[in-house]
Amino acid sequence: MKKQRLGVGLIGGGFVARFHIRAWVGVRDADILGIVDKDEKRAEEAAALAKKLKVGEAKAYRSITEMISDPAIDAVWICSPNFTRIEVMEEIVHALGKGKGELLGVCCEKPLGRNAKEARQMLELAQRAKLLDGYLENQVFAPSVVRGKQIVWTRGAALSGRPYLARASEEHSGPHMPWFWEGSLQGGGVLNDMMCHSVEVARFMLTPPGAERSALTPVKVTAYASCLKWQVPEYARVLWQQSGGKTDYLKRPAEDFARSLVEYRDEKGQTVVVETTTSWCYVGAGLRLSMELLGPEYALQINTLDTDLKVFFSRKVKGKAGEDLVEKQNAEIGLMPVVSDEENGYGYTAEDRHMVQSFLKGVRPSENFTDGVNVAELLMTAYMSIEKEKPLPFPPPGLANFVPAVAKGTWNPKKRRG
Ligand SMILES: NC(=O)c1ccc[n+]([C@@H]2O[C@H](COP(=O)([O-])OP(=O)(O)OC[C@H]3O[C@@H](n4cnc5c(N)ncnc54)[C@H](O)[C@@H]3O)[C@@H](O)[C@H]2O)c1
Repeated sequence: MKKQRLGVGLIGGGFVARFHIRAWVGVRDADILGIVDKDEKRAEEAAALAKKLKVGEAKAYRSITEMISDPAIDAVWICSPNFTRIEVMEEIVHALGKGKGELLGVCCEKPLGRNAKEARQMLELAQRAKLLDGYLENQVFAPSVVRGKQIVWTRGAALSGRPYLARASEEHSGPHMPWFWEGSLQGGGVLNDMMCHSVEVARFMLTPPGAERSALTPVKVTAYASCLKWQVPEYARVLWQQSGGKTDYLKRPAEDFARSLVEYRDEKGQTVVVETTTSWCYVGAGLRLSMELLGPEYALQINTLDTDLKVFFSRKVKGKAGEDLVEKQNAEIGLMPVVSDEENGYGYTAEDRHMVQSFLKGVRPSENFTDGVNVAELLMTAYMSIEKEKPLPFPPPGLANFVPAVAKGTWNPKKRRG
């Protein structure tokens, strides 16, 4: 008999896990019942948050195997750092193989792997364990993206022709944890961390409603990256201090600015283009996501800092620094935009709802590990284009095993050729 309700366990109880827990107040037919974190205190805190918000009687477990051995857990969401992907997935598959529990599905946060090889391994492991797989790319579930895409395609595209250019950009002032800044642990710099969102949301908007993502075939990738801010000695010192002397951007920088152009062919042979920009050196009010979708007689525009709610605090309001108005907030006084429901606005709520409903129905989510592999392949081609300083036809030779110089700790834009 099909399950009516899903018990979900989170692997990793940090920043993004808490986004999912808060988003869960808008998710039906599922409860968060378990959290595993290498840091037990974090697991306990995340479990307490789930209970406080009444999204599930979450328990902190000591290991992934222990959590999935509990018959109450039907699916897991991987929310641990990028460098743990393969060990986490191998533990899941190993435990299931030994008969220690049963799962319907697994979801994994972006990026699916640090490179194309790891992403493909994730897909193969999920397939080997016969798990339904969901790739957690929240932006393709963001209400403004979904609604905007629907309107543009049913009105503008139906009458004047398909959209031909999608722009997507994600910018903020830099990640909150030291591991993100380390190329070897994270897989790269801002390109790997944030362009994964932009290439996928732009591809989603350009894909006709109801069509498979494979309706667009990538044919060429051109990219550029640099380290504009965090290699300046004064800022490199900040990273050094924040990481207890581990992160050294004078010797081993990662890119804090990157852009890419992906040229696609659609099913009729028409050229369509995705243009992305990402940075960790944008000091505005906070995280800014912007998207555009352009066609022959129409345009769509999204800017998450263009909010309906703004507050003003005079210079006499000298409160503590916080992220209570917007993710990656940079200031507390003056006229400030507020994203009043970030979990919903960025797409987490609809994303989690879709994953839960797909698993309960026994069908593969619309955003799955195959998409995660596609994204990783595009990003790795972008890194290859940066290293070779030229546009590359897709797929380039050597893509399957390519590891960016940033991830090897050998990239340095100050030593660029010419
Ligand atoms: N969708 C988004 O917009 C978005 C936003 C932020 C992060 N993320 C992704 O989510 C993942 C986690 O990022 P974060 O910001 O929450 O990081 P974080 O460092 O805040 O939290 C990660 C947590 O995982 C725990 N952990 C480490 N190794 C583990 C292991 N082997 N098993 C279980 N727990 C382990 C850590 O102790 C930590 O509590 C990353 O892959 C990141 O790219 C996605």
